[in-house]
Amino acid sequence: MRIDIMTLFPDTVGAVLHESIIGRAAKKGILEINCHQIRDYTLNKQKQVDDYPYGGGFGCVMMAQPLKSCLEHVMSTAQGRRSRVIYMSPQGQPFTQETAKRLKNDYDHLVLVCGHYEGVDERFIEECVDEEISLGDFVLTGGEIAAMAVADAVCRLVPGVLADEQCYTGESHWDGLLEYPQYTRPEVWEGRRVPEVLLNGDHSKVAHWRRKKQLERTRAKRPDLFRKLALTDPEDQKLLREVEKEAGRKQLTEPISCEKATLEDIPRIMEIVDYARQTLGRRRVDQWQGEYPSPEIFRQDVERGELYALRHGAELAAFFLVTDRPEPCYEEITDGKWTPDLPYCVLHRCAVAKEYRGTGLAEQMLRFAEETARTLGGRTLRVDTHRKNKPMQQLLRNNGYRYRGNVLVDENGHDPARQAFEKILKK
Ligand SMILES: C[S@@+](CC[C@H](N)C(=O)[O-])C[C@H]1O[C@@H](n2cnc3c(N)ncnc32)[C@H](O)[C@@H]1O
Repeated sequence: MRIDIMTLFPDTVGAVLHESIIGRAAKKGILEINCHQIRDYTLNKQKQVDDYPYGGGFGCVMMAQPLKSCLEHVMSTAQGRRSRVIYMSPQGQPFTQETAKRLKNDYDHLVLVCGHYEGVDERFIEECVDEEISLGDFVLTGGEIAAMAVADAVCRLVPGVLADEQCYTGESHWDGLLEYPQYTRPEVWEGRRVPEVLLNGDHSKVAHWRRKKQLERTRAKRPDLFRKLALTDPEDQKLLREVEKEAGRKQLTEPISCEKATLEDIPRIMEIVDYARQTLGRRRVDQWQGEYPSPEIFRQDVERGELYALRHGAELAAFFLVTDRPEPCYEEITDGKWTPDLPYCVLHRCAVAKEYRGTGLAEQMLRFAEETARTLGGRTLRVDTHRKNKPMQQLLRNNGYRYRGNVLVDENGHDPARQAFEKILKK
């Protein structure tokens, strides 16, 4: 496989790709990676590669001529190869493991064109580019990071680059699944043991356990991938049924409604709290590990009209509290700051029932909480979570909440350190 990268930063790209596994494979002659300075192909004395956009607007656009001349030079040395010219672009198809496989199988020469500034003259794309690939739905300042990612992902599939084919065929995304959890020495770390099955030397049990874990964690971490799975192997299908059964999760067959909770809801809310308490305890999160939050606290929440119940049909499936009362614990924040000068609401006490975890209800709960905050006149929604409560932090980040710093929340002698998050609400 030969890869030519056209860039304004050939030294940076070269320094990265000539290191480590890919670099070693290049030294052995399994790969050829060349980085080309687009600036060397300008026809003007100043070696200017960009100019103002026609029609006005911000920034500059890379001119077609240096790009085309650079590409012609690259192609003149690649005769007889199955070449593909790829423009790295936020407007391209998102890059996946499937794309990496296709590029490795169908071509033995990739030319990766890195744009910069506001992008490149459209006529170069029309004239010279075979396809556009994006690293994801976000905008980078240049195509270099994307090109390095594509080069790395494709090159590691080339025979001889990794020690064994199994190095990548067992990995995440190869067959639509995520990889199983990995462990190395020591056997016990910080009180956490390596799963017993991995220690007893029974290879078929290890393989069975790993495959099941792949299914479980794909279901839990990437429900979008899980829904697309089309497993044909009867063993896999059996495992799949087991995983589904064990998860015992409900399907959201009915719309979710949100209304103020009533005093009659409190016993069910306490059931949900008890399960959340156990889960947090298992994860060694020192939150909700004592009496708090008690039925008495929820009674006060209901009476103030601040507690909301999410119902799936008639069943209470999740709850949350949103208030516009200022939170005294948030007055002092360290290692960061809240958004100033905007009225805020606070999200407290929220949880999703066991059977509804992994169904997307937690995301819906945040949407309802935000809607409630907006109705109360809040322009931002603030929330704190225990510093070890990684799933909650992940949920917040995935839903547009930003980490703002650390606050202290007294919970009857339990660890008071909390991470503070905030989301600016759209009007
Ligand atoms: C600031 S971007 C230009 C974005 C362009 N104005 C637009 O809105 O589509 C500059 C260059 O970075 C590269 N780039 C930015 N985001 C990318 C992404 N998500 N994937 C691949 N390349 C990207 C492209 O090569 C692009 O020409």
